[in-house]
Amino acid sequence: MMTYRDAYRKASQFLREKATLDPDFSARYLLAHVTGSELNTLPLLWEKGLSSAQKHFFFHLVNKRGRGIPLAYLVGYTDFYGKRFTVRPGVLIPRPDTEHILYAVQEFQQDFSHILDIGTGTGILAISLGFLFPHAIIEACDISWKAIRLARFNARKLKKNIRFHWCDFLKRPPSGKYDLIVSNPPYISPQESSLIEPSVLRHEPEHALFGGKDGLLFYRAIAHYSLDHLSFDGKIVVEVDHKWEKIRDIFTEYSLKCQIRYDYQNLPRVLIAERKA
Ligand SMILES: C[S@@+](CC[C@H](N)C(=O)[O-])C[C@H]1O[C@@H](n2cnc3c(N)ncnc32)[C@H](O)[C@@H]1O
Repeated sequence: MMTYRDAYRKASQFLREKATLDPDFSARYLLAHVTGSELNTLPLLWEKGLSSAQKHFFFHLVNKRGRGIPLAYLVGYTDFYGKRFTVRPGVLIPRPDTEHILYAVQEFQQDFSHILDIGTGTGILAISLGFLFPHAIIEACDISWKAIRLARFNARKLKKNIRFHWCDFLKRPPSGKYDLIVSNPPYISPQESSLIEPSVLRHEPEHALFGGKDGLLFYRAIAHYSLDHLSFDGKIVVEVDHKWEKIRDIFTEYSLKCQIRYDYQNLPRVLIAERKA
């Protein structure tokens, strides 16, 4: 009989040999998933035995992890802002950093009534905003049908009524007027691709990562879009990175007043833009 401890040791050793990122965490995470245990109580079950089916399934996943496949694609979900979202290959895996968009929105202490999420992916922002503003009309768009289908699935699962549209925001953006526009757009430039974790480049969709020659293409489009589609007292809240000053300059050119918010590592993470009073 193989105990949880033996399985964990064997898997973490294998993943270390394969130079997998976070080999010990990956082994524990997959073991917890396969055995239906809580991650933090797993060591209490160390002496328990795996059934033959659990053992096969566990090492099947560990092998895939050894090939660099992200954990969220292997288990099929990730948690975001207190809710569990289904994740599938072909759609970007939500990152905890993106929750800072929601913290920034909550700072306004304003009740938004018409919200747009640009590049919704799994639907995390639109759906989480549905919990924060249950009476708002929330629209979300994405150029990927896979993303739209998955976002609709997540919204149904979490019982939120969101209007998802397929659209190329750069060519035919939604025609409404909004008092809150949020986005975590693709913002990596080709020159920055060497800084990105190879497994992200290999396994996550390219169209979700790259934002034109300088990574700023979507910020320019959102700033321009705000001219006709942001209501008088509306707010734009977007995820940014170290290029945030350039992004601020883009929004400032459109007479928007900007503020920056930092993440837990004290890195610039969210830009808020609103009309100057
Ligand atoms: C960085 S991902 C963000 C996904 C999700 N909002 C999140 O934070 O996990 C960017 C998203 O923008 C979408 N996208 C890329 N180009 C687009 C375009 N031209 N129009 C609309 N959506 C686009 C991608 O398919 C992807 O889902």
